[in-house]
Amino acid sequence: MRVIFPAAALLVLPSAFGDGIQFSRTIDTIADDSSWSLKFDSGCSSSDDYGSNDCSFAWGDEVTGNVDLSLGHDLDEGSTFSVDMKVDSIVPFSFSCPVCGANCTTTIPIVNQDVNFAMPPCPVSALDLSTPFDYALPADSPTKGVKVSAKGTLGVKDAAGATVLSGEITATVQ
Ligand SMILES: *[C@@H]1O[C@H](CO)[C@@H](O)[C@H](O)[C@H]1NC(C)=O
Repeated sequence: MRVIFPAAALLVLPSAFGDGIQFSRTIDTIADDSSWSLKFDSGCSSSDDYGSNDCSFAWGDEVTGNVDLSLGHDLDEGSTFSVDMKVDSIVPFSFSCPVCGANCTTTIPIVNQDVNFAMPPCPVSALDLSTPFDYALPADSPTKGVKVSAKGTLGVKDAAGATVLSGEITATVQ
């Protein structure tokens, strides 16, 4: 239920309604020759070797931070990333996409949004990357304020089928 607050209270308590995005993750496996860290400047209540964790952002927030990525070997054609999640504990959201050399296509359940975007050319070369990011979240909830939760696994495999990165994520969007 929505409570009407005076506008001044909204300015002081931008996430008082709980509308926004929250997530936690664990990293299970990362290739010996690679590393990964994603740090947010604010909005998260814990951190580990892989960066910030237990994060919460409100719609319209400007999200800033730094990503440090080291990939120890090329990702050739045939490398994949996969998502295997359950939305609201029941609706499956599972897909596997090429890491490079083709489009990634999937449909986001609940909002029924088709996604089709080009991945970079193959191979994705071994690299060391450290770069800041600055991303403005949409001003309004894409779920129109309806609480949607998702939980599952994410993984990246190289062309030989070896795991480059795998982990679990729990997220709530409202
Ligand atoms: C691949 O994605 C791009 C957008 O990134 C799109 O313009 C193009 O039509 C897509 N190609 C195919 C074969 O779907």
